[in-house]
Amino acid sequence: MPLATLRQVLDEAAKGGYGVGAFNVNNMEQLQGIVSGAQEVQAPVIVQASRGAIAYAGPQYLRNLVLAAVESAPEIPIVLHLDHGDKPETCLMAIELGFTSVMMDGSLLADGKTPSDYDYNVAVTREVAEAAHAQGVSVEGELGTLGGIEDGHGSGQVHLTDPDQAVDFVEQTGVDALAVAIGTSHGAYKFTQKPTGEVLAMHLIEEIHQKLPDTHMVMHGSSSVPQSLVDRINAAGGKLEATFGVPVEEIQQGIRHGVRKVNVDTDGRLAITAALRETLNASPKEFDPRAFFRPAREAMKQVVIERLTQFGAAGHAGDYEVLPLEEMAKRYAGERVGV
Ligand code: G3H
Ligand code: 13P
Ligand code: ZN
Repeated sequence: MPLATLRQVLDEAAKGGYGVGAFNVNNMEQLQGIVSGAQEVQAPVIVQASRGAIAYAGPQYLRNLVLAAVESAPEIPIVLHLDHGDKPETCLMAIELGFTSVMMDGSLLADGKTPSDYDYNVAVTREVAEAAHAQGVSVEGELGTLGGIEDGHGSGQVHLTDPDQAVDFVEQTGVDALAVAIGTSHGAYKFTQKPTGEVLAMHLIEEIHQKLPDTHMVMHGSSSVPQSLVDRINAAGGKLEATFGVPVEEIQQGIRHGVRKVNVDTDGRLAITAALRETLNASPKEFDPRAFFRPAREAMKQVVIERLTQFGAAGHAGDYEVLPLEEMAKRYAGERVGV
């Protein structure tokens, strides 16, 4: 099975009324945890790499690790997606590398910090969509900005997505998926108390879905930051502060209203950190890295199993045949001439 495109995987998710987890990858153990988790529950899965991840792993390692994952899990639709592309050149580089989906995050300027103006966002996103679609590759755009700046993504200010502008944005850019800003932020420190539906502006998701029923929405900053993981990390010598993430019930409500891609990075990081700290503490005489990485990989797998199940994607891996990029490119070409 070839790598799947985001467009096909989300179209299928929309038909089935479920959401697909998009998990960040930086190394082999994370990737193995993600893919074995998806296999365990027979769910499609989105593997996403940030610019930082590509720099960390090295582009060739990353590409070939993902190709190895596809080979070892041929029954699972796996998307390779660029997370937060900062400018068109980065997206084109990822396409060249073999990514089947790219995010052009034009909500911020190329510095990844300064909120852009609307015309800039439309222009760079449309430029990427035209180039990507010609090769069958899918595109995610973002309208509005997330809060949080500590991970290098975000302006520190929150600009919630305007539903009317979203309609214009999708029409002008032709994106396959739209990341909406509803009050979440990246990283572990999202909220100082459990957020309600109002804090999260869930009503915007419902409004956008009403206006754009065929557009797949993406929720960034969707880690739930389980208290149990924070407690385990701190019990094993960590010093995380009190914090709350996005409750899974809120994500499930979003999925009922058109959210199809749910971005989760921090929960995987927390699970890996908890497992590593515990194993290192429990085995002070151990020096075989496999003794530490094996439980870390298993911890990542358990996060993926839990989230894919909660998002309703479990059991859907075999619903469809993955289409190759050439077939997707033909479809986009057909759309352009109004077929
Ligand atoms: O969007 C942020 C993701 O969590 C990726 O973070 O840039 O540290 O790899 P990163
Ligand atoms: P979290 O930090 O909540 O996991 O969000 C990840 C994300 O949105 C990646 O784009
Ligand atoms: Zn994000």
